[in-house]
Amino acid sequence: MRKLIGREDFWSVAAPVTAGFVASHPYFAANPLALAASVAAGVGSYRYFKEEAKRRLNRVKEDVNEGFILESDDTWPEHTMGLGGLRLGYTKDHNKPLDIENDKLMRHLAIIGQSGVGKTVLGLNLLWQQTARGGGWLFIDAKLDKDTRDQLAYMARVFGREDEFYVMNVDEPENSNTYNPILNGDPDSIASRLMNLLPVAEGNPGADYYRQQANYALTVLIAALQAAKRRYTFMDLAIMLQSAAAIGKVESLVPLDDPAFMVLQVFLDSFKKQDKNGIKVDVDKLKTVLGGMAGRIAQFAQGKFGQVFNTVTPEIDLTDIVRNNKMCYVMLPTMEKDTASLNLGKMVLSDLRTTVAQMQKLTKSERPNPPFICFADEMGSYCTGMTGIARMFEQARSAGVMMIPAFQTFGNLAATSPEFEEMIIGNTWTKCFFKLGAVDSATKAADLIGQRTKYQYSVSSSQSESASAQSLRVTPDSSQSESGGVGESWRQVEDYRVPPDKLTRMGIGECVVTSGARTFHISTQAIEFPKVPEFRKNKYPAKLPAGFTTLDLEGQYEQFLIGLAPTPSAPAAVPEPL
Ligand SMILES: Nc1ncnc2c1ncn2[C@@H]1O[C@H](COP(=O)(O)OP(=O)(O)O)[C@@H](O)[C@H]1O
Ligand SMILES: [Mg+2]
Repeated sequence: MRKLIGREDFWSVAAPVTAGFVASHPYFAANPLALAASVAAGVGSYRYFKEEAKRRLNRVKEDVNEGFILESDDTWPEHTMGLGGLRLGYTKDHNKPLDIENDKLMRHLAIIGQSGVGKTVLGLNLLWQQTARGGGWLFIDAKLDKDTRDQLAYMARVFGREDEFYVMNVDEPENSNTYNPILNGDPDSIASRLMNLLPVAEGNPGADYYRQQANYALTVLIAALQAAKRRYTFMDLAIMLQSAAAIGKVESLVPLDDPAFMVLQVFLDSFKKQDKNGIKVDVDKLKTVLGGMAGRIAQFAQGKFGQVFNTVTPEIDLTDIVRNNKMCYVMLPTMEKDTASLNLGKMVLSDLRTTVAQMQKLTKSERPNPPFICFADEMGSYCTGMTGIARMFEQARSAGVMMIPAFQTFGNLAATSPEFEEMIIGNTWTKCFFKLGAVDSATKAADLIGQRTKYQYSVSSSQSESASAQSLRVTPDSSQSESGGVGESWRQVEDYRVPPDKLTRMGIGECVVTSGARTFHISTQAIEFPKVPEFRKNKYPAKLPAGFTTLDLEGQYEQFLIGLAPTPSAPAAVPEPL
């Protein structure tokens, strides 16, 4: 494992010198410690010179099927690593460190490669460096992996930052920090976050109608809740979408002079009907139109999900995490409860999007420094059908947030939409191509890496002979000739800088990196963790923001779900205990 802070060469150079002084001093002459120090120094300097020798040798080896070493362009100055940038690895030809500076990193980094080739290992290495330099990160992991969680917790502790480390793990709620993804943002963005829960309704006018209605209802209800300064949970929303009485209660809490009040009236009006008893909300219509959404929202309020999400004082607040350089590991249980956990991935990304939009409004000195990292591993598996992601990539740069999406194929991206694929390609300044499985992905990658001009040398030779005779002549007249020549030419040909078949034949832990106009063939570095203890969550104090109280429909849900009870006089809301 490499030392990631400070000048890497310092001790191997300084130690022999120091040891020399120590050993030459009479007092230390017979001192075994000094002897040990100089042995250690000797090992250190041996390693240093070995590394240095590797750097000086040019080891390019292109014409082999396996284990080839491609030529890398010049790397940037090494001293970028640390606060100035991150190290992706070492070039294979000269063993030079490839450091990318923050400004380029904020134009995002894509990691592409088939399964098991080192994408996550590279991501973890970058998070390690980020943790070491005091930066914040969000790691969304589509594989439920306790070892990774324990290692990340260990990493935070190594750097004395365990009190800035959060874990979201629906699979093990008792060892997860709490989270409520529907509190942050304006009503529109929260509603659109929840819309990720509904399947896309392309070309289906019926389904589209229900989507529109759900979006409308959510926007109105959330605006009302915000105006009433009430904090709510998934359960509260699910109840509101099903119960006129619950909406009635919220209506009574909204200040009359707030625009949200009028909007709520208009919304309710569309659900009102007149019968012989007068005008009232048509509960059946409410249930038919909003039932689908209510059911999906309720999923997040029940069982293990509920234990993590049903809170109005969540420990995990993405805005706080991004702004204050904290670290958060989100574990998506993709194997079971498929849709719900993928939807969770989408909601976290969408919550981050709101945070990014908020960061953008800050002054430069208020934005996260060093830039915040969002490492979205296997993003292809949970971003399907998401809207607004493209915008986030565009905004993130000026918000001081760098996105590191990792994918298996370009097809993963195109599955979301062809524009999405274009957007990721167009919005990532640096791309790391690990071994690619599919030929079309490899061809696309080779196209992206680009062409180079090669001069092809060719030699040609020509020879001709001719003979003629005119036989009708009395005196035969004949001629014979022979000519020949050798031609030599240089031809300019355009050719892949890295051909597709090479991209399909790379080994584990190596990748071709393009950053701007430069291309590198590098080895990445795996962090070797010792055996680490099992993670135990930290409890963080969390309280309601000033002026806010809880809605807590859930506590009274029987009364609301009957749907007939008259609006009760609202009991004094008590904030949830910490
Ligand atoms: N730079 C590296 N050095 C050594 N081993 C590596 C390196 N990168 C990856 N590996 C090995 O490959 C395995 C798979 O890597 P991983 O990052 O999990 O793949 P992916 O995320 O692409 O599916 C790791 O468990 C590790 O053993
Ligand atoms: Mg992986």
